[in-house]
Amino acid sequence: GTGTRYEAENATISQGAVESNHAGHSGTGFVNGDNVAGSYIEWTVTGSAGGLAGAATLRVRYANGTTANRQATIAVNGATVVRDFPGTGAWTTWTTLTLPVTLNAGNNTVRITANTANGNPNLDYIEV
Ligand code: GCU
Ligand code: CA
Repeated sequence: GTGTRYEAENATISQGAVESNHAGHSGTGFVNGDNVAGSYIEWTVTGSAGGLAGAATLRVRYANGTTANRQATIAVNGATVVRDFPGTGAWTTWTTLTLPVTLNAGNNTVRITANTANGNPNLDYIEV
């Protein structure tokens, strides 16, 4: 299955804002991170009864209406990977990036931090 959805608008936002002006997002909006390196969103993902522990797939829904990749560091409980978020053709065109992660039984933190002055793509939600 696709797991549990955690909306970006409910996460902790450092340098960014919840917006809803580009259609197609889930929930009440998405996060438009400031176009600076270091802006981030951090989610807390809480397993129930250890159900999340071990290998899992993280899905990140985003839109990038530019033609340039937006590069971010994705940190899961501090373990980092770098991913490019390619252009999706329009800010209203949303797609999902997936990556393998390792989760703990209890609280897990997932942080997506912009690596460049282009900032993050617009971020809609994560699912694990
Ligand atoms: C536009 C767009 C925003 C986006 C921004 C960006 O302003 O409307 O949603 O975040 O570009 O380049 O990051
Ligand atoms: Ca932005």
